[in-house]
Amino acid sequence: MTQSGIDTVHVDLGARSYDVRIGRGLVSGAGAEIAPFLHRKRVAIVTDDTVGAAHLGSLIDSLQAEGIEAVSLSLTPGEATKCWSQVTHVVEWLLDQKIERNDIVIAFGGGVIGDLVGFAASILRRGVRFVQIPTSLLAQVDSSVGGKTGINTRHGKNLVGAFHQPTCVLADIDVLGTLKPRDFLAGYGEVVKYGLLGDAAFFEWLEKNAPKAAAGDMEARQYAVRRSVEMKAGIVIRDETEQGDRALLNLGHTFCHALEAATGYSDRLLHGEGVAIGCVLAFELSSRLGLCSQEDPSRVRAHLKEMGMKTDLADIQGDLPSAEVLLDLMGQDKKVVDGQLRFILARGIGDAFVSKDVPKDAVLSVLKDALA
Ligand code: GLY
Repeated sequence: MTQSGIDTVHVDLGARSYDVRIGRGLVSGAGAEIAPFLHRKRVAIVTDDTVGAAHLGSLIDSLQAEGIEAVSLSLTPGEATKCWSQVTHVVEWLLDQKIERNDIVIAFGGGVIGDLVGFAASILRRGVRFVQIPTSLLAQVDSSVGGKTGINTRHGKNLVGAFHQPTCVLADIDVLGTLKPRDFLAGYGEVVKYGLLGDAAFFEWLEKNAPKAAAGDMEARQYAVRRSVEMKAGIVIRDETEQGDRALLNLGHTFCHALEAATGYSDRLLHGEGVAIGCVLAFELSSRLGLCSQEDPSRVRAHLKEMGMKTDLADIQGDLPSAEVLLDLMGQDKKVVDGQLRFILARGIGDAFVSKDVPKDAVLSVLKDALA
């Protein structure tokens, strides 16, 4: 941690390297953070109506304090905004604002805004730079770091996009205070994933400290975000375009995507909630395949329960389809390669690996028991 209390995680990707700055007051200090990257003192901000109402004034004030002129566009919040028509809308607006090749676009919001605006920036004038100011826990620990941008189509989620690394990421811990508890906990699903996939000591730390973080302890929040970002950065540096290790970040996601599809991508199940349930199921599957001990899935479930999170299929309101249908939905996941399901399995807490040949029968029996 620096003297100012801001942590910096460097994402070392050669010419595409950048810093993720993590700490308090980064929205009200954004002007000074961004000024060194500007060729002229003008930026375009894209946000959504909820984040804009709560924080846009503070961001614009901090830019103006550095003499930076800011224009802004606010979009409807929600996953439906991550679509082709909004890409057109954002790109045309950026062109109306005469945003040039050397300018910077600011994506100010959660994962939807980060993915959509990053994608718009990647195609505008064949690529302009953008800064991520993620305002949800999920966006701070996952989607704002690593350069995945994109939109959904009628064929599925995130099927169109580009790798386009940001110029910097400003993760302001203060803005997490305006999240609804359910959204904070959904983001926590991605935090706990990092401990489970590669850092048993972090998982132990979370067992002791995550309840404090959820209750509002700023130091605990900052450490949880920093450690998550360090882990993500380490994986992205090794495998920027997901040829291998980056798939580890999908722990719990194959189950999650099937559950999200089964619940119609609705409020019945938020993405991070599906990740949490998916992590429990991935450990169940690993234990059944004799890869990890039977205690591991119980320990994962116990921690998530203590956090007040969904851990089981019974925690999802309403009916779910049969195990066979869920398995079929997994087969439509975009991570399927040559028709084979790729699963992230674990030899224990903090020791995940990519497996390309998981027997379908084992997955089916885990799903059947989870539905029973
Ligand atoms: N959210 C998964 C990844 O960035 O690869």
